[in-house]
Amino acid sequence: MTTAQHLDTLFELLRIPTISAQSQNDNDMHHACEWLHQRFTAIGFDSDILATAGHPLVYAECMSAGPDKTTILIYGHYDVQSPDPLEQWTSKPFEPEIRGNNVYCRGVADDKAQLYAWIAAVDDWATSGKSLPVNIKFLIEGEEEVGGDNLEKFIGQNQSLLKADICVISDSHCLSEEQPIIDYGLRGIIYTELHLASFARDVHSGIYGGNVFNPIQVLAEIIAKLKNDEHRISIPGFYDLVRQLTDVEQRELNESPFGVQQILSETGAKAVAGEPDFSVAARAGARPSLDVHGIWGGYSDEGTKTIIPASAHAKISMRLVPFQTAEEIFEKFEKYVRRLTPEGVDIDVQYLSGGEPILMDRYNHFFQKAERAYTSAFGKTPLYELSGGSIPVTAMFKTLLNLDCILMGYGLPDDGLHSPNEKMSISMFEKGIKTSTAFLAQFE
Ligand code: BES
Ligand code: MN
Ligand code: MN
Repeated sequence: MTTAQHLDTLFELLRIPTISAQSQNDNDMHHACEWLHQRFTAIGFDSDILATAGHPLVYAECMSAGPDKTTILIYGHYDVQSPDPLEQWTSKPFEPEIRGNNVYCRGVADDKAQLYAWIAAVDDWATSGKSLPVNIKFLIEGEEEVGGDNLEKFIGQNQSLLKADICVISDSHCLSEEQPIIDYGLRGIIYTELHLASFARDVHSGIYGGNVFNPIQVLAEIIAKLKNDEHRISIPGFYDLVRQLTDVEQRELNESPFGVQQILSETGAKAVAGEPDFSVAARAGARPSLDVHGIWGGYSDEGTKTIIPASAHAKISMRLVPFQTAEEIFEKFEKYVRRLTPEGVDIDVQYLSGGEPILMDRYNHFFQKAERAYTSAFGKTPLYELSGGSIPVTAMFKTLLNLDCILMGYGLPDDGLHSPNEKMSISMFEKGIKTSTAFLAQFE
């Protein structure tokens, strides 16, 4: 089929607003599963929609190559992030629009077009009349963007269903249209909330000001003490388990084309900021980080209101690198934050969700097949990179199934994941289908 025909079909999936964080979209999640299920059935796969305690997932398989052949598990996610702020979109977030070489739509790069590149490759293979050289299993989930325990439980309970020799995931990006990349590591994440309170209700700042703790002030001081002025995280023991990079990795980082200019042009920032003794490529993939996502409390409407607020709140996450663990870091974070909280102020430290960091075995022989597949589609051998993003399923597969993943990303760094005007390059979609096809052809 032509790329335009594949795009046409993909548009149907893009139009379904599968925002996993919002319960008003629950029907859309089912609708997307139904759509995927029908698509898999149409290309000759046995497929099922499987319920979880959260959003359902879609499983499909074609085991026709036979028991002595390699089995590949292809993972993707059909859920997307919410599209707000809506006023910043040029076209409607869930009505895919082609402008130039790009399709604009929420979720197009993260992850619908990337996962569809594999479905399209298998579809083309089937219509060519050739039999598949490998057994293929698909697992498409609906809660990647919200974390949670449901997928982990599912994997634990379905070990033989998911048994495979290698897992491939297209949910990351190349360096450019010309230069493919294989990510061989992902950061983990812990996502937390702090809730501080000092009295039962807001009180008059004239009557009490100067005599009581202001929770917003206390919160600001806690946040200010999470990093020092060299951008190093001050939580005691935070870096204890961060591993040493190998000489090869150090050299690759030194030669990495990902630099200051790329960050400035992609984000519109006027300056970069980070640990002075590390390059931007090292800071992005090889170093942990900490960010405040939101902070609220007190009065922020029009005009003045002279109160001392009763409470203050913040959302804070940390990105982890091997061999830090979510549990260890949360413990250290909670202990430190409690120590910084003065007596007389109540603090609640909540763990919302997390995922472990992972380092893939890039010397696993399946990686060479991925390298050759990229090389045949792009005319250029892929670079190896440590990614700053997180895909929690990768560590679950390793721990629960001893299954290795290869991240064969087909996006581009400026696709605007989670941002307004998310896009996917049509030529990257086409190269993605070619790369997936070439990967399968490695097993002929
Ligand atoms: N596809 C991204 C992760 C990603 C982006 C990996 C770019 C490599 C390069 C994924 O959908 C994502 O956004 N993950 C979340 C995980 C979190 C919600 C647990 C993330 O990284 O914030
Ligand atoms: Mn994704
Ligand atoms: Mn995402």
